[in-house]
Amino acid sequence: MAPFWLGTSWKMTKTLDEAAAYADDLRSAVEAGSVPPEVRLFVLPAATALASVRDRLAGTGVALGSQNAHPGPDGAVTGEVSMSMVRDAGASIVEIGHAERRTLLSETDDMVADKVAAAVSAGLRPLICVGETSAERAGGVTQDVLARQLRHALSRLGTLRPIELLVAYEPHWAIGDGGRTATPGEAAEGLAVVRRVLAEDLADTPTAVLYGGSVHAGNAAGLVTGLDVDGLFVGRAAWTAPGLLDIARRCHDALRRRSLRQPRNPDLVSAIVRKDPR
Ligand code: 13P
Repeated sequence: MAPFWLGTSWKMTKTLDEAAAYADDLRSAVEAGSVPPEVRLFVLPAATALASVRDRLAGTGVALGSQNAHPGPDGAVTGEVSMSMVRDAGASIVEIGHAERRTLLSETDDMVADKVAAAVSAGLRPLICVGETSAERAGGVTQDVLARQLRHALSRLGTLRPIELLVAYEPHWAIGDGGRTATPGEAAEGLAVVRRVLAEDLADTPTAVLYGGSVHAGNAAGLVTGLDVDGLFVGRAAWTAPGLLDIARRCHDALRRRSLRQPRNPDLVSAIVRKDPR
């Protein structure tokens, strides 16, 4: 059975001591057998903590990723770290196109496309984030925005193929303080667009489609049972190891309930999406 991905970005938080304590707690939980086997955990520390977290999580099966990296080769680019540098520091995943980078740091679809190609060249799994703003949703262009962002993100791969691709649907208005978790209908619409673009543009690659945006212990089970989703991507609610582990247990219970049900009819899900959101 494919794993269920459950991960957290620590964003711009944690001293080295705090990062180490989190990683040690996670290691203890893995060693105690309290991480459900079908849940594939991943953590994305700040770049400063990557190598130390790598050392502490070695052999636990928890995947490690970077929150960003520059698409160019190593060289004179002050203040940046390259794909090969984050890989050297222990990352197997690199997050690309997060809402906060698109809005606070003006990351464009072109930059995202360059980063995706560079990540794959470096042997990293890209974790591509797509999501619409509240104005775009209000304007009725959500499906067009998501399809454009994802198609653009994949557009510079040429013949390159990732070993595996992670795509997170994260509506901008759902993320962070003041964010509102997407309703099942809103989330299903976004996830269905992502699945359709992946089927059309990258059918030969293993992919996992995640939902993110104000996920917490109280709503994780409902998201797992209610959505056609291969994972959850969490911010604040998983900034402590017990927080992440609590959500992992709730996903485990929900996955068991989901597996007892009839498999979902994919035609019903894709029917939510109108014909061509290019
Ligand atoms: P929150 O869970 O804090 O809303 O953040 C989600 C997120 O940005 C994951 O990438």
